[in-house]
Amino acid sequence: RSARIIGAPTDYGANRRGVDMGPSAIRYAGLAAKLESAGVGTIDDGDVQAPRAEERDPDVVQPKTGKTKFLKEIEDVSRQLATRVSDALNNGETPLVLGGDHSVAIGSLVGSAADADIGTIWFDAHADLNTPETSPSGNVHGMPLAAALGIGEFEETVWANAPRLSEENVVLVGLRSVDKSENQLLEERGFTAYTMSDIDKRGIAAVTEEALEIAHDGVDGVHISLDLDWLDPKEAPGVGTPVRGGATYREAHAAMELVANHDGPRSFELVEVNPTLDQHNETASLATELAASAFGKTIL
Ligand code: ARG
Ligand code: MN
Ligand code: MN
Ligand code: MN
Repeated sequence: RSARIIGAPTDYGANRRGVDMGPSAIRYAGLAAKLESAGVGTIDDGDVQAPRAEERDPDVVQPKTGKTKFLKEIEDVSRQLATRVSDALNNGETPLVLGGDHSVAIGSLVGSAADADIGTIWFDAHADLNTPETSPSGNVHGMPLAAALGIGEFEETVWANAPRLSEENVVLVGLRSVDKSENQLLEERGFTAYTMSDIDKRGIAAVTEEALEIAHDGVDGVHISLDLDWLDPKEAPGVGTPVRGGATYREAHAAMELVANHDGPRSFELVEVNPTLDQHNETASLATELAASAFGKTIL
């Protein structure tokens, strides 16, 4: 089994600068070596092209999606990334996408769902289910799940909509910061959502096993999206939107080990690592460890 590493150095969708350095920081922390120590071969595909935000105008207004920031640039990155992800899968490799802000998940999901029915597990403090209309911020990193599901103004957005990702196979794990409109969607629609309180009460293993069953039910594979702000800020300080009360170091590893045991990911991504806010690259380093666990590394 081998992993194809694909960098998406963007911060177009984030609330502040710096996550565009995520792919470099994660590579520098030793991603390839850690995967190889777990018996996973790696091929580094380099980065998709993403011009620096300063060279672009965030406020280009688009029909339907309106004032959403940097949407044109995010479309361009999503298209490149979707192609790279589906090419890797067609080569028999597992795509391992390095963000970048969480808007890169649009490209990952579209690419992963190009030739298969998929589910996804969203390990995140946030639901990322806003639409251009409901978003409090205009930042697309709060919208990728809604975009890939074609919700709201994304319904006719061809580049964002992943038709072979079905709502019933979407599971969110670790929620603790959810906007009102997102909560409404969670109640109305077919997703399954586990909050941090669910993890407190039931334990990470029971929650993750159930999440895996639901995400895998009736589909060809599951995309794992790991936003580093899923973890507690004590473990992962280098993120742009930290929220107290997240997963611990051991909970995160346990969840990734269960992912590995349940067929492994069809595609995987590490997002929202912000080296400018990190301490000694420890968030990037933790990201590499968690990827290794998800790809099958065990203690013994
Ligand atoms: N819900 C907030 C928003 O829409 C925060 C989203 C944070 N998302 C993330 N991927 N860090 O702006
Ligand atoms: Mn988040
Ligand atoms: Mn289904
Ligand atoms: Mn997120």
